[in-house]
Parts: sequence; structure tokens; C-alpha cells
Amino acid sequence: MKAIVFTEYGSIDVLQLKEVEKPVPEDNEVLLKVHAASVNDWDLELVLGTPLFMRYFYGLLKPKPTVQIPGCDVAGHIEAVGKNVARLKPGDAVYGDLCMSGFGGFAEYVCAPEHALELKPASMTFLQAASLPQAAQLAVQSLIDTGNLQAGQKLLINGAGGGVGTIGVQIAKSIGAEITVVDSAMKLEMLRALGADHVIDYTVEDFTRNTQQYDLILDTKTSRSMLDYTRALTPEGMYVTVGGSMPRILQSFFLKPWISLTSNKKTRIISLKPNKDLGYMNKMFEAGKVVPVIDGPYKLSEVAAALRYFEKAEHKGKVMISID
Ligand SMILES: NC(=O)c1ccc[n+]([C@@H]2O[C@H](COP(=O)([O-])OP(=O)(O)OC[C@H]3O[C@@H](n4cnc5c(N)ncnc54)[C@H](OP(=O)(O)O)[C@@H]3O)[C@@H](O)[C@H]2O)c1
Repeated sequence: MKAIVFTEYGSIDVLQLKEVEKPVPEDNEVLLKVHAASVNDWDLELVLGTPLFMRYFYGLLKPKPTVQIPGCDVAGHIEAVGKNVARLKPGDAVYGDLCMSGFGGFAEYVCAPEHALELKPASMTFLQAASLPQAAQLAVQSLIDTGNLQAGQKLLINGAGGGVGTIGVQIAKSIGAEITVVDSAMKLEMLRALGADHVIDYTVEDFTRNTQQYDLILDTKTSRSMLDYTRALTPEGMYVTVGGSMPRILQSFFLKPWISLTSNKKTRIISLKPNKDLGYMNKMFEAGKVVPVIDGPYKLSEVAAALRYFEKAEHKGKVMISID
């Protein structure tokens, strides 16, 4: 089969399209014929080998053989199943996030444990399905599980134009929140169309200094100081970050006790629970409440170009790879 392979860390240039052996599923795994995949920050970090702590999991000096094909979000058909697989069968159309099972999605076939995959609704395309796993889980786990977002509350999403934000805006709209989004000018019209009530171009305006306050802030960039964020929260408000600047995230971790001692404001750092809420996303999609925003698709042979495009952050929604 064809796959995108890297055997050393360092740059997107190390990725190669190669002919490799088709994998064989273990007893608890399925063999997936991949039709679509999407690009995530974790694919880029895996290839670059940064931040360095990631190498503890993936190989200190070189990527371990088990993670030499990047790609965590996938959708496709099941071609074969191991003898202990009970829920899924050959022919099923499924999707999921393989970040906890060795990546491997930028390939014609990948083996995955049954629990990492969810059945795909018939009306959802493979590209739409592969766009959802990681970004949608982060949005659900931030807005609902952690943020407990309610109708009428004021929500701000910082860095809203990518995977997490475009799904987050639609989920928040369905809940009935008043939504403010922050991103660069080129993404704001799209975000209004998805349901944002107010838009802020971060290159022109600093939302932490305009006197507005929010019940919940969801951050994908963590680009500002924690003291700035807390100023933009209502007295009982919560700040939730999913990623971004590591020093800023560490600052939020260390300031958390002080913030909760001196106010009723809360700060939370989300740790992704992969694939937990794909059933919920199926229902939201089938009800027409969430429509994934797709950028691309690139071909399998163009994964390096897709990662470069993602790295520049000019994309809207999810950068997609079509593998058929
Ligand atoms: N917590 C976990 O367990 C976990 C798991 C997986 C991933 N993650 C993290 O979750 C995040 C995923 O977010 P995503 O996929 O939505 O990212 P994304 O697709 O890269 O979108 C981020 C958006 O932020 C905008 N942006 C850049 N600089 C900004 C700034 N200073 N202020 C406001 N907006 C800015 C970007 O557009 P412009 O550049 O055009 O402005 C882009 O539209 C990543 O940080 C990833 O590392 C966390």
C-alpha cells in the first residue's frame, strides 16, 4: 500500500510517499481502508519532534517504527476484523482519532482498535467524518463537559477559525449562547455564517482590553497573559484552554490556585479524551446542527503541502486529505 512515511524528526521535508506492507490487524483490531484523513497539530508536532517532551512517547532520537506514518483523524471502510472484534464488521463505514493507537492515517490502510472507531452516519461524507474526531471532541469537552455552557451565556472563542472553533461556534449556537469569535479578518465572514454574533479581528483589537466580559472563554491559541484573560471574565466566569503557547498554558496552571483564592473565576486546561463524544457529533450532524468546514482536500501524495498550509494557519476549519 501507499503511505506517507518519516524516519527522522525535524521538518516537513522528511515526509515521503512510499510503498509499504499492508498492515494485518491484531485480534482486537480492524483493518481500515482509509478514504479520508485530516491534519492536526499533533501530526505536525510528531513530524517536527517538538515540543521535545513528545519524544518520550514517540522515540527519543528517531520516531519509533510504530509511529512512522502520521495521521490521527481518519474515515473509511472496514475491510477485515480481528477475532476478538465484536461491535464492528467488514463493510462498516467508520471514523475516529488514532492518536492513542500509533497514528498511521496518512496511508491507504491502517489498523485500529475497535474502541477508536465510531460508525459514520450514511449522510456524512468520508471527508466530513475525518474532519471531526479531534477538533470536535475538544470543542465538546471544553464547551459542554467543562464549561457547562448554557443558553443566554456570553461565550468568546479565541482562535475560532480552525477545527475546534468552527465546530465550537455551531455547538454553542445550538445551545443558545451569545457568541463572540476572535481570529484574523479573512475568517470572520465564515464565522458569522456559522452563527457567531460578534466578531473581533485580533490584529486590530485586543478583546481583553475592550471592557466586555464573558461567562466562558474557549481558547485554541492561549496567546495572551492569564491576567488579561481573567479581566475579560464575568465574576463567576471560566477560562478554558485546549492549546497554544506552552509558556502561557504553564502560566495558567501555576496561577490557577491564586485565581481561585482571590476570585470566583475559574481556569481549566483540557486534556483530550479521544473519540468519547463521536456519538453526540453523529446526532448533531444528523439534526443539521453541525456542518464541518472543509479546506482542501489534498491528495495523499500532497500531505507535505497540506501540513505546510496548516502550519501557515491560513486554513478555514479543517485541512483535509482525500485518499481515494
Ligand atoms: N488539550 C489537548 O489534549 C489537545 C489535543 C489535541 C490538540 N490540542 C490543541 O488544540 C488546538 C487545536 O485548535 P485548532 O485545531 O482549532 O487550531 P487551528 O486549526 O490551527 O486554528 C487556530 C486559529 O487561530 C487563529 N490564530 C492564530 N493566532 C491567533 C491569535 N494570536 N489570536 C487569535 N487567533 C489566532 C488562526 O488563524 P490565523 O493564523 O489566520 O490568525 C486559526 O484560525 C491546538 O492548539 C492543538 O495543539 C490540544
